[in-house]
Amino acid sequence: MRINSPKLNIMYKACMKAAKFLIRDFGEVENLQVSSKGPGDFVSSADTRTEKIIIEEILRAYPDHGILSEEAGNINQKNKTNRWIIDPIDGTSNFLNAIPQFAISIGYEENNQIKNGLIYDPIKNELFFAETGNGAFLNNSRIRVSKKKNLRNSLLGTGGPRSSSKIKNDIFHEFVEISKNVETPIRKYGSASLDMASVACGRFDGFWQRELSYWDIAAGTIIVKEAGGFVDFLDKEVDESKKRNLVATNSLIHKELLDLINKKNIEKN
Ligand code: IPD
Ligand code: CA
Ligand code: CA
Repeated sequence: MRINSPKLNIMYKACMKAAKFLIRDFGEVENLQVSSKGPGDFVSSADTRTEKIIIEEILRAYPDHGILSEEAGNINQKNKTNRWIIDPIDGTSNFLNAIPQFAISIGYEENNQIKNGLIYDPIKNELFFAETGNGAFLNNSRIRVSKKKNLRNSLLGTGGPRSSSKIKNDIFHEFVEISKNVETPIRKYGSASLDMASVACGRFDGFWQRELSYWDIAAGTIIVKEAGGFVDFLDKEVDESKKRNLVATNSLIHKELLDLINKKNIEKN
């Protein structure tokens, strides 16, 4: 693995330690899936344990660094300079249903700018990572976004809406409208971090989604950018970590996709 940055090293170590348990737990979910009890509680404890292992590893190396993690919330909140962003399992519903499409996602920011990101799919053993200025990688290989130039020929991914969404109908409408402009049906794989990793390595030409959380996408933003892609938000919000509505593409189809989304003008922020 060509990781020679201290921050990525910590992410890698933490991730590998947590992934061992997660892989074992995933095997267990496959058994529980067919039992009458179901895997619900078991999955939430797998989530919490994964998070605990990652937080411990980060704090061992950097005891005063800030952390924002999906389940644990904020740690060392007064540190505004260094912050780690964690999603212990991104793709929980997949995990819960024994579908091998989920990841651990860890980002690191300095002064509100994401510097490093790592997304690990433990089942496929695919490790995506990037550091500002040093390119993006999948395991040992440098990755680049696709070269697709037209939206019509592009493979796109999206996700949502959440059941609690207040703009559900608009999101469905947007999906229908964008679908009419692509040949291949849009994918909805249920793990935003892996969707972004897919843009970074050229499997997807673009991904967009509304109402995401920062931990879903923090690591993905730097990985897509370092792979030559373009990451954009539909929000009026200035603070990057509060933006929720994302468009990430190979750059070449960006304008076409964005124009289409803006044309429908469903933004409610
Ligand atoms: C979810 C996944 C999913 C996206 C949801 C997220 P979680 O994260 O990224 O793809 O559509 O908006 O909440 O709950 O599995 O960590
Ligand atoms: Ca998530
Ligand atoms: Ca999660």
